[in-house]
Amino acid sequence: MPEDDFEVDPFDVSGSVDYDRLVEKFGTERIDEELKRRFFDLADSKNLYVDREFIYSHRSMDKVLDEYEDGDGFFLYTGIGPSGPMHIGHIISYYFTAWMQRKFDVNVYIQVTDDEKYWDRDITDEEIEENVKDNVREVAAAGFDPDKTFIFRNREYMGNMYDGIVKIAEKVNNSQVQGVFGFEGSTNIGMNFWPAIQNIPTFFEDKRCVIPAGIDQDPYWRIQRDIAEKFGHKKTAAIHTKFIPALTGPEGKMSSSKPKTAIMLDDDPEEVEEKVKKHAYSGGGDTLEEHREEGADLSVDTSFQWLKNLLMEDDERLAEIADKYSSGEMLTGEIKEILIEQLNGFLQGHQKRKAEADEKVQKMMYDGQLAQEMWDKKIDLEPRNRD
Ligand code: TYM
Repeated sequence: MPEDDFEVDPFDVSGSVDYDRLVEKFGTERIDEELKRRFFDLADSKNLYVDREFIYSHRSMDKVLDEYEDGDGFFLYTGIGPSGPMHIGHIISYYFTAWMQRKFDVNVYIQVTDDEKYWDRDITDEEIEENVKDNVREVAAAGFDPDKTFIFRNREYMGNMYDGIVKIAEKVNNSQVQGVFGFEGSTNIGMNFWPAIQNIPTFFEDKRCVIPAGIDQDPYWRIQRDIAEKFGHKKTAAIHTKFIPALTGPEGKMSSSKPKTAIMLDDDPEEVEEKVKKHAYSGGGDTLEEHREEGADLSVDTSFQWLKNLLMEDDERLAEIADKYSSGEMLTGEIKEILIEQLNGFLQGHQKRKAEADEKVQKMMYDGQLAQEMWDKKIDLEPRNRD
């Protein structure tokens, strides 16, 4: 089989990702029409990201829906690495998680990895501190229920989780993490230990855990699924998003380290306009003549892809844009204007909710119902059996 010309792991996404191939490589399953229909039926509404297949792959979601129907329920877990300010790619999985919480009325746990990013990045404690404060407000703006959501920083909550982490760490060896993550001799030992910490929240309740996240995080869940049953827990389920590519084209993923080619969550309308006009990759023809004749290639056009996958709820309007742009009737400049308007509409709402998020953050981290229960609780797993 030829080498793939893309790379996806929790630390790097590069090349033009073949999402079908990724499902095979990671051993996940595509969300098919039947699962989609069941999911929307039980949620009693459609979800744009799933409907448009931006959220497209899963592990064990069929079991999750069975268990939900049987009354066993589930809980949600996701996380954020405080490595810098957040971009629009980051926020999608939190909006989706909040949507699932509303529809299924379940608890959500959000891990803030102020340890992982110290090990993985060249970043100071002061920078981490600043990022945590900013990132939790971004996440809170996605609309979680403050009494059913627990946001915790690992370095702060570690004492409550450490007994369980010790049990996980004993079950995972170096060959596994080297195989799954490509860790090498030069990798610091913090990162070697990290998979035990990223997996502990999957054991916060006895129900099945469901993790909405980018598919880059899936390698962690493979480890969890190898060991969960040894502790009498269910294998975690996961539901995977694709990546939002950089504005500049379909390769790799949007990254905060290249802010010019990313739409940052705190960009103002002028910045959005400038970035989209200057950098948004166009699938249109090189000249007006060529464009009128051949139309645009929608599959690589950033504006069209973002409207389709993230922003435009109205199916009819989207179909009309697809039709006019792919036939050459609509020009790149025109679709960019539509994207600018929709992006600014989304960001305006998000920024307003972020500005009002302080009280919610306080509840989700410390004072809300679930937060208080979690601060009173120690997480442990079945001890070693000496039989
Ligand atoms: P982090 O901070 O790198 O990413 C946070 C979430 O954002 C997703 N993401 C993207 N999704 C779509 N398009 C993009 N361009 C894009 N960039 C990032 C990631 O897939 C992720 O879902 N180790 C984790 C933190 C973590 C976590 C978790 C994440 C701890 N526990 C449980 C998900 C679920 C990290 O550094 O994520």
